[in-house]
Amino acid sequence: MSTFEQLFGQAPEGEWAAPGRVNLIGEHTDYNGGFVLPIALPQSVRAQARRRADGLLRLWSAQAGGPVVELAVAGLVPGSVPGWAAYPAAVVWALREAGYEVGGADLRLDSEVPTGAGLSSSAALECAVAAAYNDLYGLGLSAPELALLAQRAENAFVGVPCGIMDQMASMCCRPGAALFLDSRDLTMRQVPIDLAGAGLALLVLDTRVKHDLADGAYAALRAGCERAAALLGLPALRSLAPADLPSALGRLPAELVPLVRHVVTENARVEAAVDCLDAGRLTGLGPILTAGHASLRDDYRVSCRETDLAVEAAVAAGAHGARMTGGGFGGSVIALVDAAEAERVAAEVAAAFRRAGLTEPRTLTAVPAEGARRTA
Ligand code: GLA
Repeated sequence: MSTFEQLFGQAPEGEWAAPGRVNLIGEHTDYNGGFVLPIALPQSVRAQARRRADGLLRLWSAQAGGPVVELAVAGLVPGSVPGWAAYPAAVVWALREAGYEVGGADLRLDSEVPTGAGLSSSAALECAVAAAYNDLYGLGLSAPELALLAQRAENAFVGVPCGIMDQMASMCCRPGAALFLDSRDLTMRQVPIDLAGAGLALLVLDTRVKHDLADGAYAALRAGCERAAALLGLPALRSLAPADLPSALGRLPAELVPLVRHVVTENARVEAAVDCLDAGRLTGLGPILTAGHASLRDDYRVSCRETDLAVEAAVAAGAHGARMTGGGFGGSVIALVDAAEAERVAAEVAAAFRRAGLTEPRTLTAVPAEGARRTA
């Protein structure tokens, strides 16, 4: 494995880390102005970095291997950089586009966040680079400002119309807390979640499948929500109160009804989940998670055979609740379990996958960890 010195001939100026995330509840609400409730994972992307005076961005990824990718920062244009290098390049482009006079850098990237698992490895990569540039070039930007730039990078340079949740989670989460974020105005509150103290554990079951329709389907769902909001005369679906849902649904074309029902009920589930955490009733989260999964499966239709099976098997094995997390079409499921039962639940889910002829999920335990930070 090449070291920074081997790749670039000098020591790095520093190292920055930004984590992946799981979202407890509030899926597909962020681009509707709604609430989300993510926690950061202990797994991070690490960026070792050093400024360059010649305007070159030189990138190397431990996961991709291969030669150093070399790009001229002044020549970066959306769509011009293929593969993984698009994410770090996008961040540098977004900073310059926002008027920050940043130049080049040598960047050695190494990720512990599984890719394609719905755990936000791309946002972690963007945020690690954003945090590194913020310090290297003395920009003095706040964590939410960096998150917004990273989102802009992904939307406009990489071309993925994602919301703000993943970047805000990676930048702003705190150890031992879930981030209760209002994506309409980015107000947030750190909500303590002492899983271990309550004798609980949060399993992450990575189904190891990623279905191809993910990208196009995400954009189509987002467009459907925006069309529904426009038809209802609202700035975003977030503005629709649960009490007004039945009458609003009656005014929408049939194909938009389940989308709106998911967004409005999901937003209410985030508030219910925060009430549970505030009251220290952590097991109360369980039924909220499972209800969220049913809504994603039946109304929003972003679950799939593998995530449905993992949820069913975890609940059958005694989990307090379970749901898919992230955008969907594969990826990971979270399951809230008694800590003493975690291994058995994971084993029973694995057995259910074997019986169905599917590859067993990879299992992690989510411990609410720290957002982006300088590590050396
Ligand atoms: C992806 C996006 C997020 C969010 C989730 C679904 O992770 O990047 O912005 O929309 O899907 O909740």
